[in-house]
Amino acid sequence: MDYEAIETQVLIIGAGAAGLRTAIELADHGVEALVVSKRTHGDAHTVMAAGGINAALRTRDEGDDWTLHAADTLREGHFICRSGAVELFARRAPERILELAEWGCPFERTDQGEIEQRYFGAHSYRRTCFVGDRTGKAVLETLVKRADEVGVSTQDQVFIAEILVDDGHAVGAIGWDMQNSQALVFSANAVVLAAGGFSGLYQRHSSRAGENTGDATGLGWSAGATIRDMEFVQFHPTGMVWPEGMEGQLVTEAVRAEGGRLYNARGERFMNDYAPDEMELAPRDVVARAIAMEIDEGRGTERDGVLLDISHRDPEHLKQRIPRMVERFLSLGIDISSEPMEVAPTAHYAMGGLKVDFATGATSVDGLFAVGEATSGLHGANRLGGNSLTETVVFGQITGAHLVQWVGARRRRPLDSDLVRARLDQKASLSRQKGQYRPEDIIAELRVLLERHAGIVRSEDRLRRGLKQLTDLRQRAEDLRVFTTPGSTVFERICNLDFMLDSAEMILRAAELRRESRGAHFRVDFPDSDSVWRGSVVCRSNPENGIMLDREPADEPSEEVREALQRELHLDYHHLE
Ligand code: FUM
Repeated sequence: MDYEAIETQVLIIGAGAAGLRTAIELADHGVEALVVSKRTHGDAHTVMAAGGINAALRTRDEGDDWTLHAADTLREGHFICRSGAVELFARRAPERILELAEWGCPFERTDQGEIEQRYFGAHSYRRTCFVGDRTGKAVLETLVKRADEVGVSTQDQVFIAEILVDDGHAVGAIGWDMQNSQALVFSANAVVLAAGGFSGLYQRHSSRAGENTGDATGLGWSAGATIRDMEFVQFHPTGMVWPEGMEGQLVTEAVRAEGGRLYNARGERFMNDYAPDEMELAPRDVVARAIAMEIDEGRGTERDGVLLDISHRDPEHLKQRIPRMVERFLSLGIDISSEPMEVAPTAHYAMGGLKVDFATGATSVDGLFAVGEATSGLHGANRLGGNSLTETVVFGQITGAHLVQWVGARRRRPLDSDLVRARLDQKASLSRQKGQYRPEDIIAELRVLLERHAGIVRSEDRLRRGLKQLTDLRQRAEDLRVFTTPGSTVFERICNLDFMLDSAEMILRAAELRRESRGAHFRVDFPDSDSVWRGSVVCRSNPENGIMLDREPADEPSEEVREALQRELHLDYHHLE
């Protein structure tokens, strides 16, 4: 097969905030990097991040500092986050946000000109910086502009199908130009996976179509990388429930941060029963389970939702603080300044993913790095709202800085042309298959399976039934009917199917193994947390048995952060009333 050969020092897969921040650091130090992405220039899933980005800037609350941000992150992660990573993250967050502001990110400002900060759920202080409710878009635009200024090279509409691994070293990747189906072979000293998470594997999810389908996890897994914390999938409490085609889309937490109240169909403000102090700004897992319970017990709306009401706030304030929500609901005939929105939980974020050393971004495969939602360990069992955008820029910069040294000391391995042709031929053969089943049907069934068997409420019985159904789906995925060209969106879907099946199995198996409840993982048959399980479930690839599960104990925070934890600060929602 003909292919175009492309050489670069660092190949970055994914052009969201994490990938771009990594590339900017490399470009700043004169290291050649190429960022490839499935979508067009400047468009990545980061645009979907809405409500904010966190750092202890103390604009509103003098008492805040990085140790308290770290303490809140650990508490929300139910103490299985990697403490060293959390501390590095919370320490570096302020400088990264000030840097974004310096690069032109139009953060909301106070009358005194400081970066404004609002509450977000389960933070003890106001530390969420924002640009209305389009913070991710503003951050991404800022990074795209900066990347263009410092000369970052990008190649858009490229689908990466496989990481090339030679003798245990990542040496590049193969993919296709999605515009003309040209096969592409990338040779690099280092490969960085910045291709997001896998919450798009669920039936109701907050991601765009075809995104967050486990590309990074799947690419890393097939390259031999270790994966961790797969049982922890965050369900955002408030996704849309209608109209068709918009189910699951995010109704930003900023609505609740600006005072939004949740009611069941009987008009009861039910968070009083579940979290009377933190109310609507309780941790996401608590609010999501409360909503699910209200709906399950028959107190939901006809469309299986609950009501989110912010009509008590001044319409002008809403236009300034949550303009996207105002516009979106208005386009559906709902004026949120006078009537409530209908919402229900939606799969939103993967705490699990590739195991990395956060000081370097290195995965367990030599030459393969990862950054952003593709990684695991920072958020533990549950993520604080607003921490994901911060993670992208903090660890993008750290990984980029490490790679500046790393690639300098590293010679590029020549690609083995036999290996390259064999891998290209094998992948390309997926585009013509004469079996019975349509890949889109299997993907649709997989999404329902995860929603039912590994959703907000789990049990051994449900998880086992899910695994059994997954075996059946895997068999059908071996017998596909496909007639397309490599590089088409159908081809992308077929390659994704393998990634999705692997990720789904890891979610189900890790969730079955963990016989306790912790953060986003709730088991009705083991409703309490058990200190025996304070740690991670790790997935390693075993050539004979496929996925091999192992356990890894949690570590301990530093004395400074232990002191911060002892202060037991919690958000008192009633400030907002
Ligand atoms: O609701 C939101 O705006 C989501 C933010 C986040 O997940 O960090």
